[in-house]
Amino acid sequence: MANNDSKKYKLGMIGLGTMGRNLLLNMADKGFSVTGYDKDRKMISKLEEEGKKHNLEGFDDIKSFISSLQTPRTLILLVPAGPIVDSVIAELKPLLSKGDIIIDSGNSHFTDTNRRVDELEKDGLHFFGMGISGGEEGARFGPSMMPGGDKQAYNVVKDVFDAVAAKVGTDPCVTYIGPGASGHFVKMVHNGIEYAIMELIAEVYGILKNGLGYSNDDIYKVFKKWNEGRLQSFLLEITAEIFVFKDAETQNDLLDQIKDEARSKGTGKWTSEVSMELQLPVPTINEAVSNRDLSKFKKLRVSLEEAFGKKDTKIAVTVEELEDAFYFSMISAYAQGMHLLVQASKEYQYDLQLQEIAKIWRGGCIIRAKFLEDIYQAYDKNNVLEHLFGDAGIQNIIKGTLAGTRKTISACINSGLGIPAFASTLTYFDTITTARMPSNLIQAQRDFFGAHTFERIDKDGVFHADWNKLS
Ligand code: 6PG
Repeated sequence: MANNDSKKYKLGMIGLGTMGRNLLLNMADKGFSVTGYDKDRKMISKLEEEGKKHNLEGFDDIKSFISSLQTPRTLILLVPAGPIVDSVIAELKPLLSKGDIIIDSGNSHFTDTNRRVDELEKDGLHFFGMGISGGEEGARFGPSMMPGGDKQAYNVVKDVFDAVAAKVGTDPCVTYIGPGASGHFVKMVHNGIEYAIMELIAEVYGILKNGLGYSNDDIYKVFKKWNEGRLQSFLLEITAEIFVFKDAETQNDLLDQIKDEARSKGTGKWTSEVSMELQLPVPTINEAVSNRDLSKFKKLRVSLEEAFGKKDTKIAVTVEELEDAFYFSMISAYAQGMHLLVQASKEYQYDLQLQEIAKIWRGGCIIRAKFLEDIYQAYDKNNVLEHLFGDAGIQNIIKGTLAGTRKTISACINSGLGIPAFASTLTYFDTITTARMPSNLIQAQRDFFGAHTFERIDKDGVFHADWNKLS
């Protein structure tokens, strides 16, 4: 088939690891003629085996692979982010022609994507950064996809993406995100929100276990029940299952056998870094990143617990109050991520459509949740909404959660139960809803020791005071 010019493939996948293979199989299921390339013959055999019913063909020779594709050629890269992407591009470049499209679907840093877009544009090649969320299952049966790049080039592959993406009703969880690296930027923020929600759920676990004395079975029941209501989400659903999973070796709950040291690949950290760069605070995401890092200091934590003594962290709050605190904080985590997207859209001229982004996050991706429907409705009503807290519907939801939230968070703080993400989320809310902050004092201090000037409330301009002079 590959060497028959009259029957060439619509799309080629580079990298036939589980993600690449699954996405390719998903495309084949939907009736598209697709093929794959991998240096490793074992991966090709796997593809041919799993894609038997589609007669899927794989190549380990890049030249034959490229010449098996229709023009303009569309290539999806599913290779590890970083220098490998550059080396694959270097290998491909001499074999491609003007108008061909390369779509990088790994979790690449958006600044790398910017660079690649510019470099390839010189050769008339279109480079897309496309975040894909949903893990291996998602790739196989319906991910959420965030493609950014040249709009016209997008139209060449739109039908494939619409077909393979997850669906909410009949809406595909994919949309054209915007120019340049906007697709990878949006995926990075998706991951930042993912970190925040995972951290909040972990803190809920800590509260249920150490504050309320719940067993793993009890916690399973709480999460299971929550997941039937307004908190329904993929992350809560999988978390409930974790609490009843047994370790095959010890027959204990596997969760109890796992070290309390969290790892990461970096997308959460990138979100925090960019937020600092854009001067747009996302404290819940920052705490989630920091707390994964803090968890790695196990020895230090053990020795400091000895030094300061083990705390009695029992608290008197109800599960309903805790549920309010979680719902409130989850809303805030999404709100911070969306706020960052608003700012980035202005700064990088991405022209992001927040309602479309919320819409494609309702299914397929890791942060899919019932609440995304509310976010979607809020931005659909007002697509220039600066902050989710500005929406009247969201305000009503938040007002209903505040009493339980404050009671839960203050009880944890009083008893010494560490809840960094919850605490900083509440204080973020209290600050962003304060008309006059004490930041005037910071301006006075800066002007006092460094003559950095200040602005006044009663007239325009910049001013300096001779602070050393006694008035
Ligand atoms: C997704 C996930 C996916 C991956 C994360 C894990 O949307 O499908 O976000 O991209 O699981 O990158 O990130 P960490 O290893 O940093 O937790």
